Amino acid sequence: MIDTEEKILVDHVPQSHNVLTEVIMGLSRAQKSLPAKLLYDKKGSEIFEEICCLPSYYPTRTEFKILRDNAREMVELMGDGCLIIEPGSGSAEKVRILLKAMKSTPRYVPIEISREILLRTCRELIEEFPGLGLTPVCADFTDDLPLPLSVSSQPGKKVIFFPGSTIGNLHRDEARDFLKKASRLVGRGGGLLIGVDRKKDVDVLLRAYNDPEGVTAAFNHNLLERLNREIDASFVLENFRHEAIYNEELGRIEMHLLSLLPQLVRVSQTVFRFRQGETIHTENSYKYSVEEFVTLGEKAGLSFVRSWEDQDGLFSVYYFENR
Ligand code: AVI
Repeated sequence: MIDTEEKILVDHVPQSHNVLTEVIMGLSRAQKSLPAKLLYDKKGSEIFEEICCLPSYYPTRTEFKILRDNAREMVELMGDGCLIIEPGSGSAEKVRILLKAMKSTPRYVPIEISREILLRTCRELIEEFPGLGLTPVCADFTDDLPLPLSVSSQPGKKVIFFPGSTIGNLHRDEARDFLKKASRLVGRGGGLLIGVDRKKDVDVLLRAYNDPEGVTAAFNHNLLERLNREIDASFVLENFRHEAIYNEELGRIEMHLLSLLPQLVRVSQTVFRFRQGETIHTENSYKYSVEEFVTLGEKAGLSFVRSWEDQDGLFSVYYFENR
C-alpha cells in the first residue's frame, strides 16, 4: 500500500497564538464575533457530520441527489480524466460520485486542514479507486497558499470542486475573491463545479439551523468549549443559548450565542463583559438565487456554463469555466 503520509505535500496547521489573537479581536468589537473556521475542530467536524444527516438540514442530501442524478453530464463538461482539486475535502464523499462517473483514470487533489482526516480519506480512496492519481495537500484553503508545483505543473484540464455551499460561509466580497482565486488556480480552460444553497421560504431555512434535536446548538456551543480548552478561556456553556436568525436584508442565516445573563468571561489574560441578551456572532451562511450566483461568478471573471437543481429548487450546483 502507498504510504500517503509521505506523499502529503504541504503541511500547514493553525497555531494557537493566532487563535488567541483572532478571538481577542473578535470579542473586542461592538458586535462580538468569533471566526467561523474555529467551529471546525475535531469534535466540531464530527458534530457537523451529524448536522448533515438531520431531517431538517436539507442541503447535504439534496446536493448528493443532484450530483448522483447528473454526474455523467457534469464529468463530460469538466472533461473526463481532468484533475479535480477539492479545497476543504473532508471525507471526500461527494467527489466519489464524480470519480465513479469518470471513464478515464481520475486524478484528485484533496486539500484538507486536518491531517488525520486527510490521511484516513486518502487510504480509503486508494482502496476504492485503484490507479487513482492522488496528490494530498494538508492546508487551510482560506490561507493564500499557492498550489505545490507538483499540482500546478500537472498537464491537462484542472477543475476545482467546491460542494456543500461552503462558499455561503464567506462574505459576498470574500466569495467573489474566492471565485477569482479559483479561476486563477485552474488557469485558462479550467473549470469550477460548485454547490450553493438557495434563497427560499424562511421557515425552511430557520428549521435547518435551529434543529429540534439541538445538534446545531451543540455545534455552536463546542466553539466555546474549544476556547476554554485551547486558549484558557472561562466560558460557562449554560450561560449562552444558540440562536440562528435569517437576516433578510443581507440574505444570510446568522448563528449567534446569546448571553442569558450579565457576565464576565476571561480569555487568557483579557476579561470581557457581556450584557444580558448580548450575542457573539459565530457564523454566516449566505443564500443565493441562481441569478445572484451567476452574476457573482461572472463578476469574478468566470463564464457560466450550466447549473443543475433539485425538483424543489432548494439547492443548485453550477459549472463555470475560465475562458
Ligand atoms: C459548512 N456550511 C456550508 C454549513 C452551512 O450550512 O452554512 C455550516 C453549518 N452551520 C450550521 N449548520 C451548518
